Amino acid sequence: MSASLATVSYIGATILFILSLGGLSNPETSRRGNLYGIIGMTIAVLATVFGPRVTMAGIPWIIGAMVVGGGIGLYAARVVKMTQMPELVALMHSLVGLAAALVGFASYIDTSNPLAGAEKSIHEVEIYLGILIGAVTFSGSIIAFGKLSGKIGGKPLLLPARHWMNLMGLLVVIIFGWQFLHAESVSAGMIALTVMTVISLLFGIHMVMAIGGADMPVVVSMLNSYSGWAAAATGFMLSNDLLIVTGALVGSSGAILSYIMCRAMARNFISVIAGGFGTGGGAPAAASGDVQPAGEVVAVSAAETAELLREAKNVIIVPGYGMAVAQAQHTVYEITQHLREKGVNVRFGIHPVAGRMPGHMNVLLAEAKVPYDIVFEMDELNQDFPNTDVAMVIGANDIVNPAAQDDPNSPIAGMPVLEVWKAKTSIVMKRSMASGYAGVDNPLFYKENNRMLFGDAKKMLEEVFVALKS
Ligand code: TAP
Repeated sequence: MSASLATVSYIGATILFILSLGGLSNPETSRRGNLYGIIGMTIAVLATVFGPRVTMAGIPWIIGAMVVGGGIGLYAARVVKMTQMPELVALMHSLVGLAAALVGFASYIDTSNPLAGAEKSIHEVEIYLGILIGAVTFSGSIIAFGKLSGKIGGKPLLLPARHWMNLMGLLVVIIFGWQFLHAESVSAGMIALTVMTVISLLFGIHMVMAIGGADMPVVVSMLNSYSGWAAAATGFMLSNDLLIVTGALVGSSGAILSYIMCRAMARNFISVIAGGFGTGGGAPAAASGDVQPAGEVVAVSAAETAELLREAKNVIIVPGYGMAVAQAQHTVYEITQHLREKGVNVRFGIHPVAGRMPGHMNVLLAEAKVPYDIVFEMDELNQDFPNTDVAMVIGANDIVNPAAQDDPNSPIAGMPVLEVWKAKTSIVMKRSMASGYAGVDNPLFYKENNRMLFGDAKKMLEEVFVALKS
């Protein structure tokens, strides 16, 4: 393939990636967005492999690597459970970081195309920064994987004088950077590079270890952004324009997503990065369940729930992590269809951090073929709860916790929540009185107009559906 054809292909792929991101911003266009992404990536890979910079001798190696990598990716995508998605994503980010660091070392050692003067210095800055970002992303993502999968505890590691330690690390990295740029030989430069890599790896570990379990979603999204910048840095090292653009797209969209998530969880972006936050009562779900209930609750049966739904004119369903665990989305939709046929106005209210990853609920509802026009964002729907007869909460907890508004001392104080308690009746469907991800008690359960339907969400909804039809 000629250089100009490769360039045209790269421009085409870039446009497709931008269209892909645009498509992914809305559930209705997300399939198309995905398709654009797939086509763009196929063009990008083909244009690179058969482009002017790869020799024929290299092609079998690349194909071999693609078969192995593609095989592992395909296997992982097939076996991973939806609830394990954030862990898989964290692990994938670590690979992007590792690749950036390795490419950095390789391009420093490679002296086949010697540069001089300003060009040499710029290339070395690219290498130094590329390895730095890559190493931080790599070790940070591994720790994030460990925390999300419960292999490492969710409690933040708060070393004394940690901010000073980070500052010291930064100073050492700058000093060795100077030495690296003025190194007489590759072996002298390697010493500086190695020291910086070790510090960056330690920084990545320290940074994520200092972040509490409840803030991990933001960290994953932040690492997503870092992995984008690491890819962009690799693009600079390899003088590959497409990699630079793609990396910048991932880097900036990851940063925007982190910001949106911070807002949805009422966290300050800087304080998340600085670490030590996200705790309070914030043990991850694995460690939750030990909060003592603080009042009386009214339990209802599936038949009583069906009766309440049958009498309702307006129903809002609020799904959460428990719906994903129970895989109850299909039964939820069957009930929705049944109620809609009877003239009930049924809508879904989606909190931005419901579940365990951004868009978790949207994906599940789309899988169950729930029409997009009855699925609403929290902000679009919150004012409608006072006019709602039944608010049905399915396996959600933190995202419907009134303490976020009423209790300034709550670990989730300030987090925007769906105001289900303002409906005439709210029904919370969960298995026990256990707390949610943030590990805090939920005063909603004890409200006078609230009912609890205890049991596995899928099983209980099936019973409700049977009762509704009878
Ligand atoms: P949670 O607050 O975690 O509550 C989920 C509830 O589902 C639990 O209280 C649990 O109670 C119930 N549950 C679990 N399995 C169930 C089953 N089989 N049937 C019925 N109920 C079941 O979830 P949420 O309200 O969706 O809030 C999300 C939380 O996760 C937030 O704190 C958020 O910050 C955090 N987080 C979000 C993300 C993203 S990006 N979405 C990522 C990581 C963490 P029982 O055990 O009593 O059944």
